[in-house]
Amino acid sequence: MNTVVHPNARAKGRNKPLVRAIGGETVSPPPIWLMRQAGRYLPEYREVRKSAGDFLTLCRTPDLAAEVTLQPVWRFGLDAAIIFSDILVIPYALGQGVRFEEGEGPVLDAIRTREQLESLDKTRLHEHLSPAYVALERVSSALPNQVSLIGFAGAPWTVATYMVEGGSSRDFSAVKGWAFSGETRFQELVDILVDATSEHLIAQVNAGADVLQIFDTWAGVLPEAQFIRWCVEPVKEIVSRVRRQHPETPIIGFPRGAGVGYGTYAKATGVDAVGIDSSVPLLWAASDLQSICAVQGNLDPVSLLVGGDAMVSASREIVSVLGKGPFVFNLGHGILKTTPPENVSALVAAVRSF
Ligand code: CP3
Repeated sequence: MNTVVHPNARAKGRNKPLVRAIGGETVSPPPIWLMRQAGRYLPEYREVRKSAGDFLTLCRTPDLAAEVTLQPVWRFGLDAAIIFSDILVIPYALGQGVRFEEGEGPVLDAIRTREQLESLDKTRLHEHLSPAYVALERVSSALPNQVSLIGFAGAPWTVATYMVEGGSSRDFSAVKGWAFSGETRFQELVDILVDATSEHLIAQVNAGADVLQIFDTWAGVLPEAQFIRWCVEPVKEIVSRVRRQHPETPIIGFPRGAGVGYGTYAKATGVDAVGIDSSVPLLWAASDLQSICAVQGNLDPVSLLVGGDAMVSASREIVSVLGKGPFVFNLGHGILKTTPPENVSALVAAVRSF
């Protein structure tokens, strides 16, 4: 494995390929993991999911969460495990009603009034989230030395979209209406989320996470000024709080759909790596993002679903452009549930063979 040491290489976990790549080294072949690598496309996941009953019970039962976290690592030999949980455990831990309905996605008791906002309760956060920390400890002790363990949380903006809309949304009119209105109420919600998210990420490192990822799935729906205020600023604050406790832990930001805003995001938040979605041009990412931080991405999840030679050549193109600098191979968004597991094996083999 050839490596070129970059000046900002961090000390902790230096032997792990993922940590080295995010720390600024050019690692060849690049480390690979996949967003949503544990999930319904795997028969062994569906079996555990069935025995757990509902999705939140699975997230909150440490033995089962640890088991499904490890499944894709054992099956595919990936360079990282990402702890099995969800970004919506934070609203749940703050006392908001959260349910996952079969075939419908998440359903939350929408927060629209000051009264509902004030009913959010930070005092039992750690207690509610502790099953995730137990699962992290179990996974951490079970993983081979070279494999990194990733902890994660949703970014405040993305989590707020679910809290205010009451679930997934097509046009984000309720949450945008609130964010654009100039009222202080939305800032108060985001401040609560900055506190809770920072604590949750710090606790995940305490429990054994080597790397953190902050998912901002809906960063791409905001106009520039709002993107700076509600995506960049809160994540910058979270990064600085986590760094104060754990200066050595690399952080990946994933502001999906941010377009040219990726540059501003990478510089202003201080993340160690950015996850790019599949629409980000590779040459631009190499010249304008890898000069600031490491880059992770960005195979289209449909390309993985389709597989075959088209998948291999798309992956080769990504590695040939981004693999000359600090780079982590991943998808541009999560694995789709109809993806054949054999395609994941073929992808891992291909990325390691280029
Ligand atoms: O990546 C992993 O393997 C770790 C686990 C993980 C899950 N969700 C498990 C999950 C991670 C990192 C997430 C993040 C997440 N959750 C995001 C950000 C990333 C993204 O995909 O954009 C978002 C927006 C959520 C919220 C969420 N959770 C939605 C919208 C849904 C329903 C959609 C769906 O696929 O059904 C979930 C449920 C969920 N989270 C599932 C899994 C495996 C499916 C639930 C099931 O097994 O029934």
